[in-house]
Amino acid sequence: MTATAIAHPNIAFIKYWGGNRDDALRLPCNSSLSSNLAGLETRTTVRFDPSYTEDCFSLAGEVQEDASLKRVSDFLDLVRSTAKRDIYAQVDSANNFPPAGAGIASSASAFAALALAASTAIGLNLSESQLSRLARRGSGSASRSIPDGFVHWQAGEGDADSFAYSIAPADHWELIDLICVLDTGHKAVGSTAGHALAHTSPLHTLRQERVAERVELCRKAILERDFALFADVVEEDSEFMHAVMRTSTPPLLIYWLPETEIILWQVKQWRKAGRALCCTVDAGPNVHVLTLKMKLIGHCRN
Ligand code: DP6
Repeated sequence: MTATAIAHPNIAFIKYWGGNRDDALRLPCNSSLSSNLAGLETRTTVRFDPSYTEDCFSLAGEVQEDASLKRVSDFLDLVRSTAKRDIYAQVDSANNFPPAGAGIASSASAFAALALAASTAIGLNLSESQLSRLARRGSGSASRSIPDGFVHWQAGEGDADSFAYSIAPADHWELIDLICVLDTGHKAVGSTAGHALAHTSPLHTLRQERVAERVELCRKAILERDFALFADVVEEDSEFMHAVMRTSTPPLLIYWLPETEIILWQVKQWRKAGRALCCTVDAGPNVHVLTLKMKLIGHCRN
């Protein structure tokens, strides 16, 4: 009863932030849009064995305890109850990118890979939407790391219809995400705690009012490969999410570094000068600079 799965983290163009309608089910306030990040991956092996007396979890070869183990074990409880099996597991996971909590959405690829590996190892044969719903219970953004390419997580009315699906394959649009890694340390406030604070910001309701419109515009921009529209709407949503973070009580200013602002400023200058570039920042100081793959139209000779 062993299975291995690989999943990619994703970058949200329209963010999932704050005020989960149901914390246990991780039902978000708003729909979100993202793209999976090729090149970055989490690889997870799950082995269920009747001889085990408890769950064990290792990350990059290091045995995990306390909160980290509990989050994995709680997730395995969901898998066990779905499969109606009472059996413990050994989980071995590794990322090929900076460690958990650095704002590169490691929980997305972590719970997507865990959902697929654990459900397969225990004998469940889940559909893509069932897997996306299961991954969502581990970490909301993980629901978006199940489908391929460009992905829409529909907020839904409840557990049954809150899942992600692909709106376009990966090769639909050659977007590049240049991740400026400024800090690989564990952030002081995790996303789950941050989501819970969002409702304390007076800007949260304001962001929610127009987020559905931004989802529609961003979806249109992706489908029509309209970078100018894409850049406007992606930057607006990222700025709005960080405004909510900054005006929460207590504020989450700790997420950014001075270099974060410098990169945002520089990219805005380049964009004003006509280059196809824009920025988005998740719950950490690292900046994702989004741009288009350059087409080589010739080469230098002498
Ligand atoms: C800023 O999915 O990490 O990256 O559901 O509590 O695990 P939990 O939160 P998480 O939140 C992601 C927040 C974000 C925006 C996004 O990816 O949409």
